[in-house]
Amino acid sequence: MCGITGYIGYRDAYPIVINGLKRLEYRGYDSAGLMLFNNNQIALTKTKGKVLDLEGIVDQSPSGKEGKIGIGHTRWATHGVPNDVNSHPHFSQSGELVIVHNGIIENYDTLKKELTSRGYTFKSDTDTEVLINLIEEVKKQEGCKLGKAVQLALTQVIGAYAIAVFDKSKPNEIIVAKLGSPIAIGIGEGLKEFFVASDASPFIEYTKDAIYLEDEELAIIKLGKAVGVRKIYDDSIVDANIQELQLSLEQIEKGGYDHFMLKEIYEQPKAITDTYRGRMLADEGIIKMAGIDDNLGKFMRADRIIVVACGTSWHAALVGEYLFEDLSRIPVEVEYASEFRYRNPIITTNDVVIAISQSGETADTLAAIKLAKSKGAFVFGICNVVGSSIARETHAGAYTHAGPEIGVASTKAFTTQITILSLIALKLAQSKGTLSNSAFHMYLQKMQLIPKKVEKLLRIDDTVKHIASVYKEASNCLYLGRGFNFPVALEGALKLKEISYIHAEGYPAAEMKHGPIALIDENMPVFVIATNKGHYEKVVSNIQEIKSRNGKIIAIVTEGDTTVKEIADHVIEIPETEEALTPLLTTIPLQLLSYHIAVMLEKNVDQPRNLAKSVTVE
Ligand code: G6P
Repeated sequence: MCGITGYIGYRDAYPIVINGLKRLEYRGYDSAGLMLFNNNQIALTKTKGKVLDLEGIVDQSPSGKEGKIGIGHTRWATHGVPNDVNSHPHFSQSGELVIVHNGIIENYDTLKKELTSRGYTFKSDTDTEVLINLIEEVKKQEGCKLGKAVQLALTQVIGAYAIAVFDKSKPNEIIVAKLGSPIAIGIGEGLKEFFVASDASPFIEYTKDAIYLEDEELAIIKLGKAVGVRKIYDDSIVDANIQELQLSLEQIEKGGYDHFMLKEIYEQPKAITDTYRGRMLADEGIIKMAGIDDNLGKFMRADRIIVVACGTSWHAALVGEYLFEDLSRIPVEVEYASEFRYRNPIITTNDVVIAISQSGETADTLAAIKLAKSKGAFVFGICNVVGSSIARETHAGAYTHAGPEIGVASTKAFTTQITILSLIALKLAQSKGTLSNSAFHMYLQKMQLIPKKVEKLLRIDDTVKHIASVYKEASNCLYLGRGFNFPVALEGALKLKEISYIHAEGYPAAEMKHGPIALIDENMPVFVIATNKGHYEKVVSNIQEIKSRNGKIIAIVTEGDTTVKEIADHVIEIPETEEALTPLLTTIPLQLLSYHIAVMLEKNVDQPRNLAKSVTVE
């Protein structure tokens, strides 16, 4: 987590760094800081709070805005509470070196003790201040240049990092390095300026040429020179690949919506279409996905599919389990990446592992992939961010093409991940013959109608808003679903927790009687997904059980439903589709509901407390 950004060139660095930090705030937002170099002086401003707070402070002393070189940081605290002192950037003891860091230095305590014994003192509780002093010490001991000192210091470090380091005595260069956390370098025209950032969003209006560093790489960025990249451990020179960025400015702006989350909810018809565009030819009855087609044999021979993911992506994985088992008849295990990686799991070369991640940077998912690869499994990635670490680490994969997702609460990533999983399940079903030809064609036709149905659902926003106004004061909520919609219940509860801080639990509807039913009284809103084909009668019985204990029922039903309508306190209708595709619809009102409740409670929808969009630490 944490976002880092930097600039060196002929323009004023301040607007680039501060606007870059605003774009990276999704990565963490409990404190922010920046350093600018001007007239041989370093001006450092940092504060607990958001980038706007930092901007307010810099506005008080406009001289702090001057300089053509700068680095900045927006933090999600790991070591040391969020306060002004622990905020980045951090100086080395001499005040000559400055660093911003995203990641964790796991052996910081040992290094700190060693540095303390050599006379270093520390102002903050951070692991980052240890690293910059280690670099300073190495530079002193070896009498080497900054780049070499950073490289040598990093060989002593255990952990993860993306760093940018500046040396006051070398004001025409920035050193960056990466292990486990992402970093991109933007290359300006004629090598007259360079940009550094955790992702490319801070510099897309300035250049389309970027280098994404790989793990264990260090780059020396020097004005007027091509970026020099080398391997940290074996010192070999890397022929860095300059990529052309596909991102556009309007994709990362709010486009008239109050919040990114709302914009992203409303983008879903397009995002789902973009996900299957060119892959699903419904009228011809074809699904073509290069990553699957090229590796079809591996999927066909697979004894089982293991899906690893975290958070919302894990919920999409659970929908995937139902899809693969129901349509393609392949056994599936869904694993939290964080558990899988430490559990000594049994993985064989006959297993196919699918890793799902919006950001493509989640540390636990990345570690799970590496583990699965080390045991010989074929690993397929489903990511949204093009060129992300997970996309690069997997053997093959498919991008969701949802466009940048900036709101911390994931929405369009979820539905587009389910879209990809549906395409894969259908493709495998066709290849294995587990679905008749006519059923396969029917699914493709129904899938093609989903974006229009999502559009229709988005028009019921006022109904959802009304329901939100009725239940916004609840302190606990229950979400129930069965089959394909059990994961949607989990996701609905997660969305509410994340942005409104109301406690919510998702449960399989029938499991409710084994515990959560004890919680039900007249103050407990229960959101029940009761679509007409998904064990409808059983869910109706579950609803009766709640009603007879005075619980409040908000039901998501299929258009035309009459039975549940009579019992429930509120109903939200979704258009008819195949049961396997209903998660793409039932999830929409639950996203809107969480959004409206959070807005009504005046919570920070796009930046909920304690969370970050991209979790690059364990
Ligand atoms: C964080 C985000 C969640 C996301 C999860 C997994 O917790 O706040 O919204 O679902 O990470 O992220 P990934 O990028 O791997 O899908």
